[in-house]
Amino acid sequence: MHVIKTVKAMQALSRTFRSSGRTIGFVPTMGSLHEGHMSLLRRSTEENDVTIVSIFINPTQFGPGEDFNRYPKDHKGDMEKISTLPVEAVFLPDVSEMYPKGFSTFIYVGGIGNILCGASRPDHFNGVATIVTKLFNSVAPDRAYFGQKDLQQAVVIKKLVQELNFDTEIVLCPIVRESDGLAMSSRNSYLSDEERKSAIILNKALQYGKALIMSGKEGDISSVKGKIAAFLASDPLVRIDYIELVHPESLEQVDTINGTVAICLAVNIGKTRLIDNTIINNG
Ligand code: PAJ
Repeated sequence: MHVIKTVKAMQALSRTFRSSGRTIGFVPTMGSLHEGHMSLLRRSTEENDVTIVSIFINPTQFGPGEDFNRYPKDHKGDMEKISTLPVEAVFLPDVSEMYPKGFSTFIYVGGIGNILCGASRPDHFNGVATIVTKLFNSVAPDRAYFGQKDLQQAVVIKKLVQELNFDTEIVLCPIVRESDGLAMSSRNSYLSDEERKSAIILNKALQYGKALIMSGKEGDISSVKGKIAAFLASDPLVRIDYIELVHPESLEQVDTINGTVAICLAVNIGKTRLIDNTIINNG
């Protein structure tokens, strides 16, 4: 397995893979890998000749006062997990490699970058789109794998690829959950025991919302949102950031609950921001 630190070396290696006719699957991550990340890696190894994973905690997608400085790191554990799969290369640039002194060119997402998580995290998706562009230009993948856990991120990246003409297919992979239903996330490690117990309420609220919609008795969106809000508010540790019912491909708010709808949640529990979503096909 190659461990690559520079963009030039990454581009050179990926060129040798391509020139021998091999397809490249790519999984961008910020490390501290868990089963969610591993499911993306596994899928990539199944669908491509070569799989490359990147680990880079991207400073430009964190806002002031967010958790950039305390974001979990587990280099040894990550390398052990990656080595259980047929992964050809790990791209591990440092911050000065990706953002050398004087760096000033950013992707501006606009529109869907400013709603949902973008409303409370201004510039977050500009930072994500900028780093994903730089990673794609380093790896030149045929396919790149993203988790539905970060549904808005995946939609933003699909739009980026389409509008800026990247020759990369974006593959969306299902959410991997703990046995009690909590969506796996590197940020779950911030939770105290008490907060961890409360965090189960996100998935429960999604299941409750889904049951309301599937019952066919709920006519309007605001009633469903109100009931989900009351459900979440029953736990005093939970502070709601947003509850939205959107179309999973456009992220536009839906005005009827017929058809395909994603329930998207963001809450704060203590100092930890957690997101989750579920996609429902309701006729
Ligand atoms: P990170 O949070 O490390 O996530 C890397 C990828 O793993 C993302 O596509 C995310 O959606 C996916 N993922 C995380 N938890 C998951 C789960 N429980 N089930 C399925 N997939 C899951 O997302 C980022 O890093 C960064 O924003 C990045 C794209 C690397 C750009 O910096």
